[in-house]
Amino acid sequence: MNNTIFFVSGNKNKFNEILPVMLKNNIQIQYFKQDLIEIQSKRIEEIAKQKAKDAYNFIQKPVLVEDDGLFIEELKGFPGQYSSFIYETIGNDGILKLLKNIRDRKAVFKAVIAYFDNNIEKYFTGEINGKIVEKKLGFGWGYDPIFVPEGFTVSFGQLHENGKKYQISHRFIATKKFCNWFNKYRDEKRN
Ligand code: IMP
Repeated sequence: MNNTIFFVSGNKNKFNEILPVMLKNNIQIQYFKQDLIEIQSKRIEEIAKQKAKDAYNFIQKPVLVEDDGLFIEELKGFPGQYSSFIYETIGNDGILKLLKNIRDRKAVFKAVIAYFDNNIEKYFTGEINGKIVEKKLGFGWGYDPIFVPEGFTVSFGQLHENGKKYQISHRFIATKKFCNWFNKYRDEKRN
C-alpha cells in the first residue's frame, strides 16, 4: 500500500520545515503546490479542517494541510485568523507600528495541521509563546523576523538561519503530534 501523504499548500516554507520531522518519523510526504481558499472563521482549527477537505476533493489522495496564526496579546489576539491577509497588507512593518511604544509585547504563534483521507479526519495543534521585537531581527519568511520565542533572545528568522527553528516551532509541536498518531494509524491499517 502506498502511504504517501500530500502536503497541500501555496507556501513551500511550511513543507520545508515539516519534511525533516516527517522523515525522522518514517512518514512519506510530498509537496503539492496549491493555494487553498480559507473560510471565514474565528477558529483556525475550523479553517484547517475545511482546507483539508477541499484539498482532498482536489487531489483525491491522503492530504495534510496547515493553518497558522500569530496572536498578539495587547492587540486582543490580532492578527489571529487574519494573519495571512495582514501579512500581505500591512506586513511586519505595520505590526511593529501598531505596537510602537507598547511595552507588553507577548504573542503566541499557533499551528493547526489537519489530515484527511476520506476515511478519517484529524487535526493537531501546536503553540509557542513569545514576544514581538521592537526592530526586525534577521531574515526568514513571514513573521519570522519579528517573533522571538520564549527562552530565546533571537528571532524565528535567526533560529531558522542556524537550523533550529523547525525543531522548536508551533509547526514542529503540531507535526510531532501528527507523526505519533499517524504511525499508529498506519500500523493498525496494516494489521
Ligand atoms: P497561513 O494562513 O497558515 O498561511 O498563515 C498565516 C500567516 O502566518 C501567513 O502570512 C504565514 O506566512 C505566517 N506564518 C505561518 N507560520 C509562520 C512561521 O513559522 N513563521 C513566520 N510566519 C509564519
